[in-house]
Amino acid sequence: MNILVLGSGGREHTFAYKIAESNLCDKLFVAPGNAGTSEIAINVPISVTDFEGIKELVLKEEIKMVVVGPEDPLVRGISDFFSQDVDLKDIGVIGPSSEGAKLEGSKEYAKEFLIRHNIPTAAYQSFTADTVEEGKQFLETLNSPYVLKADGLAAGKGVLILKDIQEAKDELENMLTNKKFGAASEKVVIEEFLDGIELSVFVLTDGKNYLTLPTAKDYKRIGEGDTGLNTGGMGAISPVPFADEDFMNRIEEQVIKPTVEGLSKEKIDYKGFIFIGLIKVGNEPKVIEYNVRMGDPETEVVLPRVKTDLVSLFKHVSEGTLDKASIEIDPRSATTVMAVSGGYPEAYEKGKEISGIDKVSDSLVFHAGTKIDNDKVVTNGGRVIAITSFNDDFRKALNTSYENMEKLHFDKMYYRKDLGFDL
Ligand code: AMP
Ligand code: GLY
Repeated sequence: MNILVLGSGGREHTFAYKIAESNLCDKLFVAPGNAGTSEIAINVPISVTDFEGIKELVLKEEIKMVVVGPEDPLVRGISDFFSQDVDLKDIGVIGPSSEGAKLEGSKEYAKEFLIRHNIPTAAYQSFTADTVEEGKQFLETLNSPYVLKADGLAAGKGVLILKDIQEAKDELENMLTNKKFGAASEKVVIEEFLDGIELSVFVLTDGKNYLTLPTAKDYKRIGEGDTGLNTGGMGAISPVPFADEDFMNRIEEQVIKPTVEGLSKEKIDYKGFIFIGLIKVGNEPKVIEYNVRMGDPETEVVLPRVKTDLVSLFKHVSEGTLDKASIEIDPRSATTVMAVSGGYPEAYEKGKEISGIDKVSDSLVFHAGTKIDNDKVVTNGGRVIAITSFNDDFRKALNTSYENMEKLHFDKMYYRKDLGFDL
């Protein structure tokens, strides 16, 4: 079967790496891809939101399965575009319908879904420009810190956590009246602050049945000790050591089962990944967000631990037979460290030559923002390369990633050297 992966980050290189290993995959395409995917697949310069361009490619190359990496095409309805097109309706799309993608596309929709299905989450209320004053009064009833969330997609920047009540009121006004995050903050969810440790669980579902993938924790801040600006993620560890069997059972019973049952009861067409962001408060899991895709860089540690043929799992997803599948997980820990361009997550330069990739040993190299320029691998984004390593002890795995990081070089390269410091 010919397969297409949509996206161009470390997540998509990891998908391509796992799919290329499968005997079920004939030709593998990635759109638009990066320098790493070009070594194991055919890169096609089509944007992930150019649905007509994707259709043309799929028909021309007789592609039978499309694996969607990022959320944007899902929220814009790529899955519906396929299911409603006579020529495309039989092609398997790994990624939910636009209705399902609202779990990520609208924080309010996600909160309403959580409440409807009795899934533990922070108490909340949502407000619009017409109800700014009520919003400020609601803030008065909460304790500091205050959590404000833009309802829509805001490139990972739409959540503000503020200590000072006046600052919280001002930011609420900024978001609603001054559209700080554009249309994404026409509505704002204000929620109770949850004090605990974060982790993420990943679920693969066909809309009725599901398989639970390994847990992971990512490091979002740019600076060591979790300081500075939020990034897409500077590294990740899987599994999360504090998620023991008892806690995982709670997550399964209180969160995963009611989520999948809720999708099924509401007849939401959902074939793909659910990425559940949780906070462990005491010994109770509480959901802070849903994403309708895999995480990046969480994919770089979760998928390499999956020993089962990924394409066979995807076939079960698209055929609705995931109850017939099982999943085998490598018991070792996996860690990934991300090298980024100096200046990221603010302005940074591109086009810097990357050297030393061929010197990496005992680890996997996943490209993120890279491209080939005059036969050389150069930087092409903020997050550039992730190095994934395995060991029974996650600290030893991290050491291997760090030893290999020292062999890589590009101008103004930066990476965090303290991952796992909190575990
Ligand atoms: P989100 O985009 O919803 O994942 O939020 C971004 C980050 O804000 C999360 O990774 C958490 O660290 C934090 N966060 C979100 N909601 C809450 C909450 N209710 N209490 C504490 N921290 C939160
Ligand atoms: N690493 C967080 C995310 O993919 O949303």
